[in-house]
Amino acid sequence: MYGDAKIVEFSGRRSATYQDALATYSNAWRSDIACMARFLDPKRGEKVLEIGAGNGYFSVAIAELIGADGLLVATDPSVDQLSALEADAEHGNIRVVQATAEELDIDCRDFDAVWSRGAIHHVANKTAAFGRLSECVRPGGRMVIADIFAGTQLARYFDSVIARTCCTGHEVAFLSREFAESLCALTGWNTPSFHDVTTPWEFDRREDIGHFLHLLFSAKDGITPDECLDAADRFLSVTLTSSGWALMWPMTVMTTTRANFS
Ligand SMILES: C[S@@+](CC[C@H](N)C(=O)[O-])C[C@H]1O[C@@H](n2cnc3c(N)ncnc32)[C@H](O)[C@@H]1O
Repeated sequence: MYGDAKIVEFSGRRSATYQDALATYSNAWRSDIACMARFLDPKRGEKVLEIGAGNGYFSVAIAELIGADGLLVATDPSVDQLSALEADAEHGNIRVVQATAEELDIDCRDFDAVWSRGAIHHVANKTAAFGRLSECVRPGGRMVIADIFAGTQLARYFDSVIARTCCTGHEVAFLSREFAESLCALTGWNTPSFHDVTTPWEFDRREDIGHFLHLLFSAKDGITPDECLDAADRFLSVTLTSSGWALMWPMTVMTTTRANFS
């Protein structure tokens, strides 16, 4: 079953090296946290639902912004991915739920916002997923999806490089803007807006970028960090900054709100 295959994909080595990447280079995604804060804008006391939370890099930041009176429900189908967050979830305002977006079944129906980053392209049945999310969010509630969209340079990088070099392959379905608009219309969301957002992934040394990508995308045996760096340099942009080196990461951020019930 496709859903089971996804659970396997982010288990074991794939999940362990993903976590290693973020533990070793914990500041690499500082600008992505700022991007989340800008578009999701979590407010104190809000209830936020996170889809494909992984090991909780964004969950912890969201939980801090909503404060002790807020609630973050962090979901992901992979037990391995969620294990670090589960151990850390004694913050009190994080609840961890193991589920795919398509099969999400939680009692809460009045979330203020949904956040998902880098996960929707792994969701096999996006119509079911958008429908489930719309049931969980109050009218006017926000949905922010930061992801790789079809036809972009980032999609070309994944299809040309990551699909060949990741130890699990990369069998996914990137959203197009047109399909995302249709999904929103079909499942109770207002017409979405799309934003091209390039964030710098920040490192001290140029070679750190190759090492980070080698871990993050669990490179197959025989693929070196230098090869990962070269491929990123060919498809994306690797630049010298005032404080070190950056890999420029060009994502798409989709924002929409839950339509009012008629
Ligand atoms: C690239 S990781 C992103 C994790 C995290 N959001 C981040 O930015 O670090 C993709 C995540 O999507 C999850 N995923 C895969 N299939 C999914 C599905 N059907 N529904 C929800 N999440 C899924 C994976 O388990 C994985 O943790």
